[in-house]
Amino acid sequence: MSQTLLEASGITHSFDTLLFSNVNLRLNAYESMAIIGRSGSGKSTLLHIFSTFIKPNEGSVKLFGNELYIQKDNAIEALRRYDIGIIFQFHYLFKGMSAMENIEVASMLSGEVIDAEILEKLEIKELMGQRIGDLSGGQQQRVSIARVLSKKPRIIFADEPTGNLDKETATLVMKVLLDYIKQTGACLLLVTHDEQMAELCDSVYRLKDKVLV
Ligand SMILES: Nc1ncnc2c1ncn2[C@@H]1O[C@H](COP(=O)(O)OP(=O)(O)OP(=O)(O)O)[C@@H](O)[C@H]1O
Ligand SMILES: [Mg+2]
Repeated sequence: MSQTLLEASGITHSFDTLLFSNVNLRLNAYESMAIIGRSGSGKSTLLHIFSTFIKPNEGSVKLFGNELYIQKDNAIEALRRYDIGIIFQFHYLFKGMSAMENIEVASMLSGEVIDAEILEKLEIKELMGQRIGDLSGGQQQRVSIARVLSKKPRIIFADEPTGNLDKETATLVMKVLLDYIKQTGACLLLVTHDEQMAELCDSVYRLKDKVLV
């Protein structure tokens, strides 16, 4: 049986009002899962809970078999640096630096080498010398995905990674992400509005009426 990389049980969280209650899920190595739901249903919040950034009001999150929110700050830092790859809904590239410099920062921090094949597959190899500010939104998004993959994460959290992309480019990005997990034994948790992209994952859950089904 495949190793469980993420296990969440009984997750309940509210800000001003209750967002969701008793969310349970398990994600194994080599697996991809999509969570779909309407704007404001709490998808990004759920992803932040799974990826070390928000401690839920109730429930347990285990990453790589270890309870997450009882760990010391430096252990959580190490998880973020080496093991978790997060593709944010709004990317955080350094605008004044070139695409290559942005990717180098990530691989330097994690001690991994950049995989030229990933740049080629994402069709951004030719753009590496350009400043981020001079790239289109979709090109920037693909650079941010390359930056995440170049640190060789064991689990990828992706929040609308294809939001700025046309269908053809979106499908290409999904293929790169799915190939990566099949090759490395990582897993992917995708959050999206896009049903077609969600269908490319092994399983699809829906966040609706405050529960995950
Ligand atoms: N840090 C916060 N403090 C207070 N309220 C928050 C915070 N983060 C999110 N919320 C609220 O929680 C709700 C869910 O937000 P969230 O970003 O998780 O939704 P989402 O499903 O990702 O939406 P979208 O599809 O538009 O990205 C929203 O009503 C939002 O205003
Ligand atoms: Mg969101």
